[in-house]
Amino acid sequence: MKALVLTNQTDEPLEIQDLPQPEPGKHEVRVAVKAAALNRRDQWIREGKYPNIQPNTILGSDGAGTVDALGAGVATHWKGKDVLINPNIDWGENPEVQSSSYQILGMPTNGTLAEYVIVKQDRLIEKPSFLSWEEAASLPLAGLTAFRAVFTHGDITADKKVLVSGAGGGVAQLAFLFAKAVGAQVSVSSGRESKRQHFIKAGASFAYDYRQEGWTKNALKDTGGFDVIIDSAGGNGINDFMKMMKPAGRIVFYGATVGLPPNIDMYRMFWNQITLQGSTMGNDEEFMQMVKFVEQHNLHPMLAKVRPFEKALKSFDDMKKGSGLGKYVLTF
Ligand SMILES: NC(=O)c1ccc[n+]([C@@H]2O[C@H](COP(=O)([O-])OP(=O)(O)OC[C@H]3O[C@@H](n4cnc5c(N)ncnc54)[C@H](OP(=O)(O)O)[C@@H]3O)[C@@H](O)[C@H]2O)c1
Repeated sequence: MKALVLTNQTDEPLEIQDLPQPEPGKHEVRVAVKAAALNRRDQWIREGKYPNIQPNTILGSDGAGTVDALGAGVATHWKGKDVLINPNIDWGENPEVQSSSYQILGMPTNGTLAEYVIVKQDRLIEKPSFLSWEEAASLPLAGLTAFRAVFTHGDITADKKVLVSGAGGGVAQLAFLFAKAVGAQVSVSSGRESKRQHFIKAGASFAYDYRQEGWTKNALKDTGGFDVIIDSAGGNGINDFMKMMKPAGRIVFYGATVGLPPNIDMYRMFWNQITLQGSTMGNDEEFMQMVKFVEQHNLHPMLAKVRPFEKALKSFDDMKKGSGLGKYVLTF
């Protein structure tokens, strides 16, 4: 089978290799992958900037496909089913935080960027029929991250004013869709004009350029401040957010793409009772709730680009540049 493997090569560590078709073990299934989506995590691994990197691993946390082989002890009804894969491995008993043995599919275990992937039976959920293969593949990791940030930690409801920062990102576009779906008043920031226009058409109240000097003043004037800001860029943006929060507001962040802030405006933070809340993907219950929510609200993830699997590296490069809006998907 074709698979995208992390090698030890320094110039370009990702390589498409021809590997033997894997066989499912006890309580495992083999999924013939129809579509797989990239996450920023895959690019961090490519750049060697992720913990516990192990060469000769097939990357990829997100995939959708058809169950084509069952290991011992797997319920026979799964054979031939169209499925999504929950990329959590061993979240553990505590819904609030992952266990010490927690892993994400696609490093160090072999992932979805291959014609076939082996996962435990309990990682499967039936693919909602209204989603295309490409949309379904875009959902698992990004959807779970957005769901926990928006609802579990952000507690976003119809009466909230929300800013989704860097809304063109793979997770952020879903955070936008989720917050809009419950009726919140959602504004966005994005570094590209075409993306800002897209979000305005999709119902954003306001769209700001985070690269423009003074944008926070405009946002404050336009909106009166935000109850919740969802972010994954980090950096000095955190201090910009402090200026736009309503008292007792909450900043939920699940990444730090541009790095750490040089300092944090703790004076403004404590005086205004602001919460800075970290978030990650989410537990298995949240995964089920997220897929149900997407079905109930008929939500379609935004796709930056769909390409055949052979063009995987081009999509990695585009994701790094941030040129597209939403998820990069590879098809088999
Ligand atoms: N903790 C977790 O479990 C978890 C889960 C998923 C992701 N993450 C992390 O979250 C981050 C985003 O992941 P992703 O997959 O959504 O990545 P992505 O698709 O590559 O999106 C990144 C987005 O960041 C935005 N951005 C870049 N510079 C910015 C800035 N200065 N201010 C505001 N926004 C900026 C851009 O939005 P525009 O294009 O709109 O400008 C860009 O599209 C990554 O660091 C990833 O590792 C963590």
